[in-house]
Amino acid sequence: MLNFGTIGTGWITDEFIAGAKDSGLWELAAVYSRDLERARAYAQKHGAKLAFATVEELASCPQVDAVYVASPNALHHAHCKTLLEHGKHVICEKPLCAQAAKVRELYALAEKKGLVFLEAIMFLHQPQLKKLESALGEIGPVSMAKLDFCQRSSKLDRYLSGELPNIFNPRLETGAFMDLGVYCVYPALYLWGKPSGFRISCRRMESGADGSGVITLEYPGKLAVLTYSKLSQAGANSDFQGPEGTVAVESISKLGGISLWRKDGSQEEIYGQDEKYKLMGNEAKDFYRYITEPEASREEYTRCAQLAVDVAEFMEDVRREAGIRFQSDKTLGAPVSPAGSVDA
Ligand SMILES: NC(=O)c1ccc[n+]([C@@H]2O[C@H](COP(=O)([O-])OP(=O)(O)OC[C@H]3O[C@@H](n4cnc5c(N)ncnc54)[C@H](OP(=O)(O)O)[C@@H]3O)[C@@H](O)[C@H]2O)c1
Repeated sequence: MLNFGTIGTGWITDEFIAGAKDSGLWELAAVYSRDLERARAYAQKHGAKLAFATVEELASCPQVDAVYVASPNALHHAHCKTLLEHGKHVICEKPLCAQAAKVRELYALAEKKGLVFLEAIMFLHQPQLKKLESALGEIGPVSMAKLDFCQRSSKLDRYLSGELPNIFNPRLETGAFMDLGVYCVYPALYLWGKPSGFRISCRRMESGADGSGVITLEYPGKLAVLTYSKLSQAGANSDFQGPEGTVAVESISKLGGISLWRKDGSQEEIYGQDEKYKLMGNEAKDFYRYITEPEASREEYTRCAQLAVDVAEFMEDVRREAGIRFQSDKTLGAPVSPAGSVDA
C-alpha cells in the first residue's frame, strides 16, 4: 500500500478517493484545502488522519507518498511543482497546464527527482482501450472519425443568471476546450499522433471563456472532427469509420458503450459502461504500478508522458489559432480581461 494526499475538495476528488481505495493499493493519509475547517471536514468525510491548509505542509508530510491534484487548471503548475520539489509522486487532473513549456518543465523535474508524474486522463488506463484498438483493426484504415464531448454544464444556469462559476472564468484557464476538448484531442493524438493541419471554429462567451468548438484535424488519408460544448447536450456517439464498418463509442472520455457496426449490417457490443470511481481506480492502479514497478512499466509510462506533452503542445497551438488566451500566456497575444480571483 502507498499513502496519498489530495488537493481539491470537489466531487471529482471524491471519485478519485473512492477509486483509489477500491483498488486496494492506496490509503488516504492527508487532504489539503485552502480553508483549514474545510480540510478537516473533508479529511473526516474520507477517513484521512491529516488535514492541511497549505500545499507546502502537504508536500512536506512524510506520511504522504503521492498526491492527487484536482485544483483549478491555473493552479496545476504551481501545485505540481511544489509537490515534485518535495519528492512526492503526482497524478494531476487534465488538462495539466495551458502552456506546454510548463508541462515539459514538470516532466523534467519529475525525471530529475526520480518521481512519477501523470496526467489523470482516464481512457489511457482502461482495459477496454485494447478492445477499442482491436475493434478498429476490424474496420480497416479509419478515414473519418468524429470525437464528441458535448455536455451542457451544470453551472451554465448560474452563469446565465450573472454569476461567474470557475468553469467559465478564463482566469482559471477553463472553458470548453480545456475542460472537454482535451478528451477529444487525447484519443486522436494517441491513435494517430499530431495532425498535419487543423482548423478550429469556436463560440465565445461574454466572460471570455469558450463555450463550444469544432476542430477538424487533417491527417494523410484521414479527417477527424472534434466537437465539444458546455452549452448543449449531445445524444450522438463518437465514431471511427473505415471501409469495413464503424466503431461507435458512447462516451469517449470514459471509453464506455463501445460497439462495432460491420458493413454487412451486423452489430457487436464490445464494452459496456463503468461507474466513474472504477475508471479512476484503474488510473490509480496504473499510477501505483508506475511507482512500484518502474522498470517493467517504463515504456508505458514514457508513452503517457510523451503523449501528455504532445497534447499540451497541440492544445496550445489550437488556442493560439482560436484566440483563446489566458493571463499566463506570454506568447499568444494580449491577455484576457481579469475576472474573479485565483488564490493559490
Ligand atoms: N477526470 C474528470 O472526469 C474530471 C472531472 C471534473 C474535473 N476534472 C478536473 O479536475 C480539476 C478540478 O476541477 P473542479 O471542477 O473540481 O474545479 P473547482 O471546483 O473549480 O475547484 C477545485 C478545488 O479547488 C479549490 N478552488 C476552487 N476555486 C478556487 C480558486 N479560485 N482559487 C484556488 N482554489 C480554488 C477548491 O478547493 P478548496 O477551496 O477546498 O481548496 C475546489 O474544491 C480540473 O483540472 C478539472 O479539469 C476532471
